[in-house]
Amino acid sequence: MVDVDASNLLTDKNSISIYIHIPFCERKCSYCAFVSFCLDKSEREKYINSLLDEIENFLTTKKVKTIYLGGGTPSILTKDEIFTIFAKLREKFDIDKNAEITIEVNPNSVDEEKLRAYKAVGINRISVGVQSLSNKTLKSIGRLHTKEEAIEKLKLIGKYFDNISADLILGLSGEKSVVKYAKELIKLNVKHISSYMLEIHENTKLYLEVQDKKYRPLDEKGVAKSYDKLVKFLKKRGFRQYEISNFALADYESKHNLNYWNYGEYVGFGVSAHSFLSHKRMANADTLQGYYKRERKEEKITKNMEIEERIMLGLRCYLGVDISTLRKLGYDIQKNDNYRKFLKEGEIVEYGEKFYLLSKYYKFADYYILNLLP
Ligand SMILES: C[S@@+](CC[C@H](N)C(=O)[O-])C[C@H]1O[C@@H](n2cnc3c(N)ncnc32)[C@H](O)[C@@H]1O
Ligand code: SF4
Repeated sequence: MVDVDASNLLTDKNSISIYIHIPFCERKCSYCAFVSFCLDKSEREKYINSLLDEIENFLTTKKVKTIYLGGGTPSILTKDEIFTIFAKLREKFDIDKNAEITIEVNPNSVDEEKLRAYKAVGINRISVGVQSLSNKTLKSIGRLHTKEEAIEKLKLIGKYFDNISADLILGLSGEKSVVKYAKELIKLNVKHISSYMLEIHENTKLYLEVQDKKYRPLDEKGVAKSYDKLVKFLKKRGFRQYEISNFALADYESKHNLNYWNYGEYVGFGVSAHSFLSHKRMANADTLQGYYKRERKEEKITKNMEIEERIMLGLRCYLGVDISTLRKLGYDIQKNDNYRKFLKEGEIVEYGEKFYLLSKYYKFADYYILNLLP
């Protein structure tokens, strides 16, 4: 399906998105390679003070259209910590009254008092790390919650929030299909589902378990089948696949993610957070010591890099790729033989000044990207 009008969801040149990294976790899940640590109270305080200082020292006159608190586990933050962070954000930035403000929560660490605090500071979107609704699976990957707790917390969240997203992982051991989980999530009024294929990173417990044959993830074919079943099911239930891993009911797409994919500017605060500002990408250090010393890597985006990135981002989602922007950057894609072939075969379509990969080919996006680069 091609969608050409996502304009109400997109940010413009005079706006910016904010990402805030909360690197706290109660325990590391076996598969997770995100930058997060089990910190005690004093270390947490030190981190939050450093975060507030980083926010204080960032200057912009742009309007903030989306804010995303990710992690780690932002729901570990106490209500007072939430109030402190938002007081600083509201003092420093011009936040649009319709801004999308998301927080990632884990079922075991969110409660009614925190949900009320989220509401009070203007958070309006909750992303819940469900991963699976099988107790056996949850235990095997080190999650600290059960299926029952995830359901109970989703019901509770539903009392306060309408815009709820849930994460599922595809390819976990023995999980040939996650359709039954998606069914249950929809019953619980979830409006957006992110389904990530299990990645096995070297520095994780899961990696060692797989090496030692103690954990057997689904094989590639099994994952592909599971993905196809999910795509088909969600489509039937009115969820549009607006990106390879993301599905939403109409108007519940993540504006924050759309800004990334639309090549919009964003600033990231916190350890390991990335920013994209004035044609530069910046990455904060991914150790706490480095972060406190404000160590960061910076890279200037050249025209060639921009061409590649725009193709990579636009082909994986329903925003597509702007042909005239590529031309201005020096790449006339309409002269590319592969491009003409894909058009002729109906795998990509042109509409107005843009081209789109049909969503049924999203899972092969890497192949198309490779063949369409200059
Ligand atoms: C920043 S992470 C964690 C958010 C939250 N702390 C939680 O655990 O639910 C966001 C999502 O990435 C996904 N994820 C993390 N590691 C992954 C991996 N190795 N493979 C696939 N998905 C992963 C999970 O679905 C997770 O909910
Ligand atoms: S998946 Fe979430 S809770 Fe688990 S270690 Fe990673 S960030 Fe922490």
